[in-house]
Amino acid sequence: MASEKRLYIKTYGCQMNVYDSERMADLLRPLGYVAADAPEGADLVVLNTCHIREKATEKVYSELGQLKRLKAERARAGATMTIVVAGCVAQAEGAEIMARQPAVDLVVGPQVYHKLPELIARAHRSSGERLATDFEANAKFDALPAERLSGLSAFLTVQEGCDKFCSFCVVPYTRGAEYSRPPQAIVAEAERLAATGAREVTLLGQNVNAYAGGLAPLIRRLARIPGLDRIRYTTSHPSDMDDDLVAAHGEIEALMPYLHLPAQAGSDRVLKAMNRGYSAGDYLRLVERIRTARPDIALSGDFIVGFPGETAADFEATLALVREANYASAFSFKYSRRPGTPGAAMPQVAEAEKDERLQRLQALLAEQQGAFNGACVGRTLGVLFEKPGRHPGQLVGRSPYLQAVHAAAPGAALGAILPVVVAAAQTNSLSGVLVGAPVPEPA
Ligand code: SAH
Ligand code: SF4
Ligand code: F3S
Repeated sequence: MASEKRLYIKTYGCQMNVYDSERMADLLRPLGYVAADAPEGADLVVLNTCHIREKATEKVYSELGQLKRLKAERARAGATMTIVVAGCVAQAEGAEIMARQPAVDLVVGPQVYHKLPELIARAHRSSGERLATDFEANAKFDALPAERLSGLSAFLTVQEGCDKFCSFCVVPYTRGAEYSRPPQAIVAEAERLAATGAREVTLLGQNVNAYAGGLAPLIRRLARIPGLDRIRYTTSHPSDMDDDLVAAHGEIEALMPYLHLPAQAGSDRVLKAMNRGYSAGDYLRLVERIRTARPDIALSGDFIVGFPGETAADFEATLALVREANYASAFSFKYSRRPGTPGAAMPQVAEAEKDERLQRLQALLAEQQGAFNGACVGRTLGVLFEKPGRHPGQLVGRSPYLQAVHAAAPGAALGAILPVVVAAAQTNSLSGVLVGAPVPEPA
């Protein structure tokens, strides 16, 4: 048995990075690396980075500045700290990262982290390549260990990369071309997750519904795995929402009534400039078809305000689309100019204008979220209890609509899906009473 070493992984960005970080930990565990929850005292630090917006990228460099000091402190104490930059900034900026921050030992792109053990060993010998950013999507998944530590709710990457080249987005450059994992590998991984206690699995992909062979058949297959009671998927692209997948929402009990379907904007002119491949009308008709299949679906989305050339009228069209579609929750961002993307060369919207638009959009989205949560009061929802709550005797779990739900429940309820009568709605969560539990005494 190798001697114990401490591994600290910090994850930025999307769920695909969360999945990748878990798999890096799985990969390093047999080499004696034990997870640490802070960088202090770590032998190996991995920053799994995100390049999507300028702020996300800048965060990485400020974190590296702090790590440099920790590394120097450790060196004075006669110990070492190996610093690895992984993920999308690694892919996008490559060797520039080591030039800007020489304390970095290794730069590893998202497609080659299966080579980490070898790269780390080489870094320790101070010889060999310190930069690995090839695109080998298929190689990565095949090279990962079968073993996984999973919680009750697990992520499972089924598709990676993107061929859509929206004019604002770096993902096609950082994650490479679309690739779908073979169904047998996915089923095997899902079976192992279920066998080690997962009850919910979220299928991941940059465009998960572009899954080769169709996402619906894959979901139907996974729904047959005993113990996997809940299936979700994210992120889906409106153009890849085929009839079969829409129908699946009405047919498969395990498929949760929640859908993240980014619209980005509501003006056809802006959608075209973004290269999204659908109009506002297409999007709204799609939402209607999905609601016909599954009337109670909780709709989620992403929006960008201040895309180059967006006028006040274009922005009003986004607000109109939001009012029409009606979201249970949604993310919204100010457009961030990304080097190398077509949007970077277009005429930019003033920062103050972007701020004002973002505020107005977020107010509307918050109102819709409040209304969606409020409408759950009095309903009985199945809650998968995942962890202890803030107060003693309380557990927190997720509703089918992905809301956090707090309820007084015995510890033995952890891991169970139990009916909860929703008593109150807060902005970001619900609280309720377990059906069959004693009603609390009035204070
Ligand atoms: N594949 C998904 C999105 C992945 S990126 C889709 O097409 O819907 C996640 C979100 O980040 C996007 O939906 C978009 O809203 C936001 N985003 C991407 N690039 C951005 C940029 N340059 N500035 C601001 N937000 C951006
Ligand atoms: Fe980016 Fe567009 Fe691909 Fe989504 S579909 S990852 S927004 S390029
Ligand atoms: Fe960020 Fe890369 Fe995900 S840029 S959002 S970590 S695909």
